Amino acid sequence: MAHILVTGSTDGLGRGAAEALLEQGHHVVVHARSDSRGEVLRPLVDRGARLVVADLGDRDAVTALADELNALDAPLDAVIHNAGLIRGAAMMPVNVVAPYLLTALVTAPTRHVYLSSGMHKSGTASVLGDVDWSGSRETGSYSDSKLFVTAFSAAVARLRPDLRSNAVDPGWVATKMGGAGAPDDFELGHRTQRLLALGELGDVSGAYWFHEEQQQQPHASVGDEGFQGEVLAALERETGVALPRG
Ligand SMILES: NC(=O)c1ccc[n+]([C@@H]2O[C@H](COP(=O)([O-])OP(=O)(O)OC[C@H]3O[C@@H](n4cnc5c(N)ncnc54)[C@H](OP(=O)(O)O)[C@@H]3O)[C@@H](O)[C@H]2O)c1
Repeated sequence: MAHILVTGSTDGLGRGAAEALLEQGHHVVVHARSDSRGEVLRPLVDRGARLVVADLGDRDAVTALADELNALDAPLDAVIHNAGLIRGAAMMPVNVVAPYLLTALVTAPTRHVYLSSGMHKSGTASVLGDVDWSGSRETGSYSDSKLFVTAFSAAVARLRPDLRSNAVDPGWVATKMGGAGAPDDFELGHRTQRLLALGELGDVSGAYWFHEEQQQQPHASVGDEGFQGEVLAALERETGVALPRG
């Protein structure tokens, strides 16, 4: 049985992934932004999940979460970096900085799955230099944030051959973010993340997946090593934390 953290598991796709993994008998670490939001995870905790709490828009809280995860009795096998926001000042911190810090600081997991979006294809690589990563004001778009985290996923795959790093477009799914009328299938929306976290889609790293387990071609900048390096440099400079190289 695998030991998997799903960030942002109070709702939507993260909750769907966490519930399905628990159902299959895996050891699941569920995550909420606050103690009060953690209350909605009580049914999962009652079924054996472990709850961790951290506001991913708060860098100190993310660092403390990494310390807590590193101190777990059993090491994590995988992280599904699922938590996300579609707008607001915390969007870049939650969508990009938190996955970066958890990847750099949590030592055990060998499989990382990053939630991308089909919308990353309309992201603009050149806005990278104008992003305020601190969360004090909204900069860039949701599409930009998903372009950056998808490029980061590809950079991890390239620089850390010891890890398996993949990005997933879950489709347009009916959640708080996706809206009630979203047309794609909810179960398929979290299935690929689970299979990647379990290592059940082959020994693949650096791929961009659509929700029905198809590898697709991402935005051209994702595979651009120069752009990947710029994303890494921006995040390293901003956080003071370097991504360990394999
Ligand atoms: N739904 C879609 O159609 C779609 C399409 C493409 C990509 N995605 C991506 O899929 C992922 C999941 O999306 P979803 O549709 O399931 O969204 P959702 O229903 O809005 O759920 C987002 C999750 O992230 C958590 N979260 C947000 N901000 C947080 C913070 N500051 N600290 C800790 N947790 C935080 C939320 O916590 P609360 O419950 O407390 O708010 C919730 O658990 C996201 O990365 C999203 O960008 C979704």
